[in-house]
Amino acid sequence: MGVRLGTVAVTGAAGRIGSAVRAGLRDEVSRLVLIDRAELTAQSPREEIHQLDLRDGEAVTAALAGADAVVHLGGIPDEAPLPDLLDENVRGTHNVLEGARRQGLRRVVLASSNHVTGFYPVGETVTPEMPVRPDGLYGVSKVAVEALGSLYADKFGLSVVCLRIGSFTDKPSEPRHLSTWLSPRDGLGFIRAALTAGDARFVIAYAVSANTHRFWDIAAGADLGYVPLDNAESCVSGSAVNGASAGSTLQGGDRATTEQTLRHT
Ligand SMILES: NC(=O)c1ccc[n+]([C@@H]2O[C@H](COP(=O)([O-])OP(=O)(O)OC[C@H]3O[C@@H](n4cnc5c(N)ncnc54)[C@H](O)[C@@H]3O)[C@@H](O)[C@H]2O)c1
Repeated sequence: MGVRLGTVAVTGAAGRIGSAVRAGLRDEVSRLVLIDRAELTAQSPREEIHQLDLRDGEAVTAALAGADAVVHLGGIPDEAPLPDLLDENVRGTHNVLEGARRQGLRRVVLASSNHVTGFYPVGETVTPEMPVRPDGLYGVSKVAVEALGSLYADKFGLSVVCLRIGSFTDKPSEPRHLSTWLSPRDGLGFIRAALTAGDARFVIAYAVSANTHRFWDIAAGADLGYVPLDNAESCVSGSAVNGASAGSTLQGGDRATTEQTLRHT
């Protein structure tokens, strides 16, 4: 039991990743500030709940008072109409960064996505330095999230880590996951490293497990201090996932199809 992370705010705390982060960091913080528009109930005296909409900048800034760091997970995690993505993901992220600036937070961790580079072919190893190739409107919104992080790092000196999250699920459940799976243990490991890395003005890192068939270079994550432990292949040996073909020639998989985006335009 320790409090080495200080006070950590988590947006999207009611969501899939937010719930895992809440449980995983509980014993490592002095206080957890849990932010979501969904209802939450405090489960320990260290937890503080703020039910708010991330589009409300003043409310976000007020909730971040006294926090040392924020893990910003709240937003739309799928393909959606662009106006919604701009409103929730881009405006929401701007409000979090602005709140962090005004409240003097030491570190901002932004949930980006592998879909910022989903148009690269599956045979290519992609690094964070390569040009973005979003595979849909959601990916475009995450490019803007990263750009806002870069702006706040350059212009206001914030320390920002963008994690390009893979496929966060308990177990790999589809062929693409052999490349993209991010286990809960590794997800938490990357987030913990993003919170604690000493020298990080602006960093972009892929957060993916040590999958044999991964598409992405994980050196930036190692620089943050985390090397993933799990491998999708060893979790699915003999299963249908292992035997099936991934089907898509693009890293984004189904998200990269024209239909996925045309449904929302
Ligand atoms: N799950 C994945 O595999 C994955 C992969 C890549 C990136 N990400 C990113 O990680 C983050 C978390 O993903 P998740 O799978 O936990 O999503 P999720 O949908 O389970 O959780 C998102 C949470 O954000 C909250 N939220 C959304 N808009 C809000 C708003 N305007 N104000 C307040 N709260 C709001 C929702 O209520 C929800 O609890 C997202 O930013 C997503 O884009 C997830």
